[in-house]
Amino acid sequence: MEKKEFSGEVYYASEKIVDNAHGKNWEEICKSAEDSLEGFWAKEAEELHWFKKWDKVLDDSNKPFYKWFTGGQTNIAYNCLDRHTETYRRNKLALIWEGENGDFRSFSYFALRRDTCRFANVLKSLGVKKGDRVTIYMGRIPELMIAMLACARIGAIHSVVYGGFSVEALHERLEDSQSKVLIVSDGSFQRGKTVYLKQIADEALQRAATVESVLVVKRTGEPVNMEAGRDMWYHELMKLPIANNNCNVEVMDAEDPLFLLYTSGTTGKPKAILHTHGGYMVGVHSTLKYVFDIHEDDRYWCAADPGWITGHSYIVYGPLLNGATSFMYEGAPTHPFPHRWWQMIEKYGINILYTAPTAIRGFMKYGDNWPNRSDLSSLRLLGSVGEPINPEAWRWYHKIIGKEKCPIMDTWWQTETGMFIIAPTPGVPLKPGSGTKPFAGIKMDIFNEDGKSVGPNEEGYLVITTPWPAMLRTIYNDPDRYVSQYWSRFPGVYMTGDSARRDEDGYFWIIGRVDDVIKVSGYRLGTAEIESALVSHPAVAEAAAIGLPHEVKGNAIYAYVTLKTGIEKSEKLIEELRQHVGHEVGPIAKPEHIEFTDLLPKTRSGKIMRRVLKAKALGQDPGNLSTLEE
Ligand code: PRX
Repeated sequence: MEKKEFSGEVYYASEKIVDNAHGKNWEEICKSAEDSLEGFWAKEAEELHWFKKWDKVLDDSNKPFYKWFTGGQTNIAYNCLDRHTETYRRNKLALIWEGENGDFRSFSYFALRRDTCRFANVLKSLGVKKGDRVTIYMGRIPELMIAMLACARIGAIHSVVYGGFSVEALHERLEDSQSKVLIVSDGSFQRGKTVYLKQIADEALQRAATVESVLVVKRTGEPVNMEAGRDMWYHELMKLPIANNNCNVEVMDAEDPLFLLYTSGTTGKPKAILHTHGGYMVGVHSTLKYVFDIHEDDRYWCAADPGWITGHSYIVYGPLLNGATSFMYEGAPTHPFPHRWWQMIEKYGINILYTAPTAIRGFMKYGDNWPNRSDLSSLRLLGSVGEPINPEAWRWYHKIIGKEKCPIMDTWWQTETGMFIIAPTPGVPLKPGSGTKPFAGIKMDIFNEDGKSVGPNEEGYLVITTPWPAMLRTIYNDPDRYVSQYWSRFPGVYMTGDSARRDEDGYFWIIGRVDDVIKVSGYRLGTAEIESALVSHPAVAEAAAIGLPHEVKGNAIYAYVTLKTGIEKSEKLIEELRQHVGHEVGPIAKPEHIEFTDLLPKTRSGKIMRRVLKAKALGQDPGNLSTLEE
């Protein structure tokens, strides 16, 4: 990397790390992608297996419904497993797993392919076909990965619902995706407690009518209700003759759907982001290879949850596409002691750790002694995702975890982008708090209200101005919303929903969301989901939710509630409302603070002015109030 002068606090990786990196000549690679976007992505795609090569890399004849690798035929699950079992990687470990209770399991590429095939055969025997939707609702266990890969193998579309979500969130997603099959675990272990996932699912199923079969993975072994004719045990099905070790792979068109993943948007219900086999596969393979510099003998740990996009792209698909050995841990970071993670890094010799700022800040609270008790010398690279990392947390991560020798890959991206968009590679000079620049082939800008580029260090709307292969293709069943949500504010340009600034070196600095999305501990929640959960309580007339800064979580949810006439305000009711939101949406959505109010600030057209509530809570000037009703 050319040693030009950079402004501010800058960190460089050692020559050894850079010289061995896939992205050693990163500037040249970026230049080649700039010269030929299609040429760059074609070269990346050639590293993977195609049953039939594509006719066209990028088809932009019907913008913004971009298509990638049209005419090409592939299957991402085949690329994740069979491509390796046909080589020396057959007996290489694909997955090492540790349960919160200390259970241990591991899978070679051979074993993961075998179990995936068996489960794919089970799904087929239940009538699951190409294009059918299957919902998966589990904790962080290997069967979650197997279920996703089995769906992909037979061309079914998986919709994973995060195991931290609850009844209404699951119901909504089952209903919207019209899933016929639900794969669930009896429960999961979190912080020493059991989360009764099957019980939550049973309640959601009472509200959702489409599900015909429920397949239950035994994890906790605690008693569960099994409904005759509908519910079946995974381990029993996997023993049947039908669960054969081989299952023909469905040849998929590059643009055939791979999965739906629900995420919160500006208004209304969560929307189903749709990703495909071809472009998504090429994007996640390439980004993980360059950014986390995956090598044959690496042990890589992405500590996210498979139920979010980070887990889809960089726990399941990305590492397997790269033939890597991944580690997955079931439990919470600091349970039962604050050095649980560091012990596992030492035990398994983890080389790459990818986590979120909220986890880092959580560890910082316990001090340096906990990580210092473990040997963390195997680490080579660190990563961060989900929200802006404050420089203080960055420096702590760099010094105490990385021992000042591990570059930190701060990756900015979204459920919608499918893959890293702003991210360094190991040789790029780093500045704490910035993800540096867009990945090869991607152009971004920062716009003012009128869609004009702003100057250095000015804040504005973060937009993406080139298409990229892992981009969402649409919102499932709602193409109009896809266009209006992402491509209409500035026609022809992808609107991220974030505000950002770009410094004099061209580095991007994310400021936060500009819409009604709240990032709590890196989890994405919509004000609308929290509000509708509150309003579904019989005592509540109206509710407004906002995010306020929080030391560890990044943001915390504050809710303002108007009660129905005659209902008495009380501390007990506040707690009841918090529990109600936890029960409907999930524990992560429980408001930190609930305040009763007789009136909510609204525009004349009845829209709640959350910015006024936010300014008031922060003791700031609420700004222009001309549209306020009263
Ligand atoms: O606001 C940005 C923030 O997370 C949003 C996307 O959330 P989600 O779709 O859940 O995906 C999260 C994991 C990819 C973005 O709009 N965000 C994500 N990564 C970063 C970030 N903010 C700052 N820095 C990041 N590295």
